[in-house]
Amino acid sequence: MRVDLITIFPEYFAPLKLSLFGKAQESGLVEVEIHDLRKFTQDKHKTVDDAPYGGGPGMVMSPVVWGEAIDSVLKNAPGKPLLVVPTPSGRVFNQEMAIKLASFDHLVFINGRYEGIDSRVVEHYQQSGEFSEVLEISIGDYVLAGGEVASLVILEATSRLINGVLGNEDSVSDDSFAPGSMQNLLEGPIFTRPASWRGLEVPEVLSSGDHAKIAQWQKDEAIKRTSKFRPDLKA
Ligand SMILES: C[S@@+](CC[C@H](N)C(=O)[O-])C[C@H]1O[C@@H](n2cnc3c(N)ncnc32)[C@H](O)[C@@H]1O
Repeated sequence: MRVDLITIFPEYFAPLKLSLFGKAQESGLVEVEIHDLRKFTQDKHKTVDDAPYGGGPGMVMSPVVWGEAIDSVLKNAPGKPLLVVPTPSGRVFNQEMAIKLASFDHLVFINGRYEGIDSRVVEHYQQSGEFSEVLEISIGDYVLAGGEVASLVILEATSRLINGVLGNEDSVSDDSFAPGSMQNLLEGPIFTRPASWRGLEVPEVLSSGDHAKIAQWQKDEAIKRTSKFRPDLKA
């Protein structure tokens, strides 16, 4: 998978060099390029924003600068990428969306700051046909200062679903929200050695060696936890 990220803070993406995503780049499963939006400005102050039409506080990011930056990424795109636009006013991100994103060969993330990006940028690229799709994605019902952290969240959830990125592929199918038996469920409690720790014991069933019984216990615990913390998930 190829990933292009456009931002005014390229340093924000330093964590992409670490852990699973860093290894995925080293092994060639993922290729990342980070673009500094200010390189596409036309004035000596490298201005990326302007006052909002209609008044109000804050500044809006210029469609002119964003258009130049996105076009430059598109010029080097082998096919039609997916454009990801992190925004609190988008559709709320979930595992299903991560699975969808992981099926694309090329993702482009545009990271807003200030009051966000002029809305015509999304409208233009929805109409231009240069992207296979334009997805406006929120990572939750709260407002961040910029899109970078949201892009990191979306990328981390997506990249661990790419074949070969995780050492043990089975762990994906056991995760909370995984399609199949964990659909709409949170994962239940998990344990490792020692069997007894500070007076707390690992449930006996997990050492029984009876796989059917263990699977049933895990499912029951997942249902209990989901009812407690996320009753809205129950189908
Ligand atoms: C301060 S926010 C803009 C908020 C915008 N004026 C609003 O009220 O919807 C600046 C940028 O942070 C990012 N952002 C903030 N909250 C987000 C969220 N919950 N999910 C995804 N991106 C978010 C977006 O890129 C957004 O353009």
